[in-house]
Amino acid sequence: MREALRLAERQLADAGVDAPRVDAELLLAHVLGTSRSGVYAQAEREVPGTWQVLLGRRCRREPLAYVLGEWGFRRLVLKTDARALVPRPETEVVVERCLELLRGDPAPRVLDVGTGTGAIAFAIADEHAGAHVTAVDTSSAAVELARENVERLGLDVELRSGGIDIAGEGWDLVVSNPPYVTLGEWNTLQPEITEWEPRDALVGVGVHERIARVAKTRFLVFETHECQADDVAGMVASLGYVDVAITPDLAGKPRVVEGRRA
Ligand SMILES: C[S@@+](CC[C@H](N)C(=O)[O-])C[C@H]1O[C@@H](n2cnc3c(N)ncnc32)[C@H](O)[C@@H]1O
Repeated sequence: MREALRLAERQLADAGVDAPRVDAELLLAHVLGTSRSGVYAQAEREVPGTWQVLLGRRCRREPLAYVLGEWGFRRLVLKTDARALVPRPETEVVVERCLELLRGDPAPRVLDVGTGTGAIAFAIADEHAGAHVTAVDTSSAAVELARENVERLGLDVELRSGGIDIAGEGWDLVVSNPPYVTLGEWNTLQPEITEWEPRDALVGVGVHERIARVAKTRFLVFETHECQADDVAGMVASLGYVDVAITPDLAGKPRVVEGRRA
């Protein structure tokens, strides 16, 4: 087992994977049905054949979350594959802000625009027992994956195929992590992103503003690019939202913009 891990680490490093040891341990833990630390408690066990298949996929720079087929987000484990973006740790802070704004409202109506796997919508439904959550995405593949997730999690969230217009229906809170990567930046990103994740989920310009203009909502919460937070906050304020604030992500980068209708 230790030798298998050592070889895998070298293969992954040669393929350019960022954290080869961690990935090797997580892939092995997955095939053994244990945790990362549990791998070392089973050092005498035979390594199953599926291990090489998963390792090969990761060496081709397929995202770890797609290879594992599931990924943790706040208290949930979501099914993940190439139909939607892998939920990122910074997005957990978006959920944090939504829950804080909704505190004291026993039954808020919440809309997640561009739901992908369903991560934001499902985490809010999971952590705010009274919330009535709706999630929408233009990608039918993403909605299909979100539907599989909602069934698996047993949460009561309404899923819809469609675009931004739904934000005009009247909500207590509209949240979105919309596409905000520029084409120029796209070309500089890692192959895990450019070769595997859906481009339409990431590349987009002006989507925050389109949502902010259409939305009829008490609270608006956006994830933004760290370099766009000030601009997005300014745009939100210029549209008449008050209490506009920026919250940093776990790495301290300006990431979440929120506002309230006066
Ligand atoms: C950055 S991903 C976010 C996915 C998920 N909310 C998350 O945080 O992990 C953006 C999502 O927005 C969807 N999308 C893009 N344009 C949209 C639009 N005009 N209306 C609704 N969804 C859109 C994409 O298909 C994609 O799933």
